Amino acid sequence: MDARDLVRSVKAVGTAQGLRSVRSAWRRQRADAAGLPRRGAERARVPGLAQSAEPQPGGGVVRFARSSLRVRVTAGGAVFCGWDDAEPEPSYALAGGCPDADVRAALEPDKDGGWRVVSERVTVVVSRHGMVEIRTPGGVVLRRDLPPRWWDPVSGAEGTGARWVQRFEVAADARFFGLGGRSSGPRLRDGSYRLWNTDPGGAFEPGDDPLYITMPVQMVVADAGTHLVFHDNPWDGRVRLREGEEGAGSGHDRPGSCELRFDGGPLRSWTVVGSPARALHGWAALTGAPAIPPSWALGHHHARWGFGSAEEVRRVVAGYRERGLPLSAVHLDIDHYRGHRIFTVDTERFPDLPGLARELRADGVRLVSIVDPAVKAESGNPVYDSGSAADVFVRDARGAEVRGEVWPGESVFPDFTDPRARKWWGDLYTERSAQGFSGFWHDMNEPVSFAAFGDPTLPRSARHALEGRGGDHREAHNVYGLEMARAGYDGLCELRPEERPFLFSRSGWAGMQRYGGSWSGDVCTGWPGLRASLALVLGLGLSGVPYSGPDVGGFSGSPSPELYVRWFQLGAWLPLFRTHSAISAGRREPWEFGPRALDHAREALRERERLRPYFVTLSHLAHRTGAPYARPVWWSSPGDRALRDCEDEFLLGNALLVAPVLERGATRRAVRLPRGRWYDTASGEAYDGPGQVLLDAPLSRIPVLARAGSVLPVMGEDGRVELEVWPPAPGRSGGGLVVVDAGDGWEHPPVERFVSRWEDDRVVVERAGGGEVGYPVRVRGRVG
Ligand code: NOJ
Repeated sequence: MDARDLVRSVKAVGTAQGLRSVRSAWRRQRADAAGLPRRGAERARVPGLAQSAEPQPGGGVVRFARSSLRVRVTAGGAVFCGWDDAEPEPSYALAGGCPDADVRAALEPDKDGGWRVVSERVTVVVSRHGMVEIRTPGGVVLRRDLPPRWWDPVSGAEGTGARWVQRFEVAADARFFGLGGRSSGPRLRDGSYRLWNTDPGGAFEPGDDPLYITMPVQMVVADAGTHLVFHDNPWDGRVRLREGEEGAGSGHDRPGSCELRFDGGPLRSWTVVGSPARALHGWAALTGAPAIPPSWALGHHHARWGFGSAEEVRRVVAGYRERGLPLSAVHLDIDHYRGHRIFTVDTERFPDLPGLARELRADGVRLVSIVDPAVKAESGNPVYDSGSAADVFVRDARGAEVRGEVWPGESVFPDFTDPRARKWWGDLYTERSAQGFSGFWHDMNEPVSFAAFGDPTLPRSARHALEGRGGDHREAHNVYGLEMARAGYDGLCELRPEERPFLFSRSGWAGMQRYGGSWSGDVCTGWPGLRASLALVLGLGLSGVPYSGPDVGGFSGSPSPELYVRWFQLGAWLPLFRTHSAISAGRREPWEFGPRALDHAREALRERERLRPYFVTLSHLAHRTGAPYARPVWWSSPGDRALRDCEDEFLLGNALLVAPVLERGATRRAVRLPRGRWYDTASGEAYDGPGQVLLDAPLSRIPVLARAGSVLPVMGEDGRVELEVWPPAPGRSGGGLVVVDAGDGWEHPPVERFVSRWEDDRVVVERAGGGEVGYPVRVRGRVG
């Protein structure tokens, strides 16, 4: 560590904690020096030539001179490829184990000594050198995996498996998306992306990488087709992307390429081929349906690090009420804990938390609690004592509890990869429930242990149960947040079986959507941060996590009124709509930015409330289909290259196109339209896509367009759901789906289908399959 690191760390976390974080970093380094298996000599290996093959249901195993490849097509059409005998399980990502094999798919000999598996939706071709091609049924190659390379430890490095690298190629026109939450997305340009969940410290800027959620899942979108590819391996890795180049008719295209390098763990992948919607549907089938947030979680939330007392919370809530601003939830950050100890309450500042919760609830406002994994290591702290007695904390290679440094001071960390620890942890939510909390905000779970230098997390040598298999932090790190979410979710389901839990988590991994959503973390206040907020939400959606949103106003500093309003307007159209900021940052209440900003925020809040039934519908559809609420504009037309490169607008469900203002001073903006007719919802004017239009974007609103023909549920002025219909283009029809909220339990209300069409010169809406429409209908948009 140099002096600059020290100064930075002291600045970052305060003097005493800064110095303790020096100690913590030294400890981590010492632990790894003693406990991490040393990488000695290694021997490189490639598969060699194919020698035989053995058919199995859905595919089979091809044996090479120095490896083997298992190919299995599942009944849903997903393709599993596992090298070196890797099986689909065990896996933290898969929801219900490995799906059944497609029994109609079989391994057959191919030309030149290779093999292939033909199935309805995809063909897998394995060359005799171990190159694997994923092809469409029509024979177009979507991805070409080159033979992998391993570096096997020669001897003595116990617990150290092979490192490996694999490169794949895609079409020259292909674009990469996903990889979890990336600040530089949603389109992932040439560069290196690390797979190691990390708190960047302070507030992040676009381009900072990695962040809190990294996942080896990518969506690759090309003219020839879309596919999703997931490398099911939680170890530290790196993905190097290079977009291809087209040879402008010369026939010399340079393919796009992706190189994956992992420090260990299995080389196994899943591929789902099809439209973006099909790819994410397949992903949800593999890794679990996204949790449906309770409907109140689709309203506006207000959070702040630094709410000093119950009185301050009351003042803020009253501020919303007095100004007629709807508010669904208030989030309490670490300051309501006693000395930052989780599962405690500072009763001086919050003398009667259950009373406060009841009072707010009567006003329609829920309380959400932050929950950090680190437990203050001090005997007498009941959480520490019970955890120690149950032996649930992470230990080092010599068997001692791993100590780190987090908000409460010296802390220990539950081992969420141990089912016993998860159960113990889940039971702790009883205390939160008794305090009156309705929802949970998991933080610092990359996991973070402040470090003045090096990686701010646990030692890589720290031991983990890994469901009884045993291993170390190199394997457990990336799934730590995921398994913490599982522990919390399961605990809450047991505690309040009649309610769907509300949980969102800063860190996580493939499959985290099963338990809840996320948010964009500590995004830097500034116009670039605003843009990064949208990138993160879209990228997470394409990685299977549909519910997320940014800290409106940015985490750090103080936004200008203009920036605040633009952030607020973006947030109002994203699933998690929450104002939040750091303890050292300025306030984020809408009335803190002057009367004009307040009016504009009020308008955004009003529109959000009006659209609540639509958000509810989208939450149910996300659960059933895996489709994110906020989708890139190319969602239904991935073949439109201009849309593929359009990153500053998004589709909200199928009906709306939202074009936030991401630039200072802008009062108009170009909006790229997918095919079909679109109405500017402000003017009612119709525009025909594909193409680009220039629309007004005064500070009071952002352009939002509605797809012609769409039918969407909105909240009528009388508080009842009504259907808003936008006229279909002449001679065409349209429609929409509606799922009406049935409370916050586990009921699955039916999906109601409506169609819209012209009858003479009138737009009519009918229930698909007949029957009463059952809702008032309001036709919007100018016709003619
Ligand atoms: C980091 C989180 O990202 C932030 O939202 C929170 O306010 C602080 N931790 C304090 O708990």
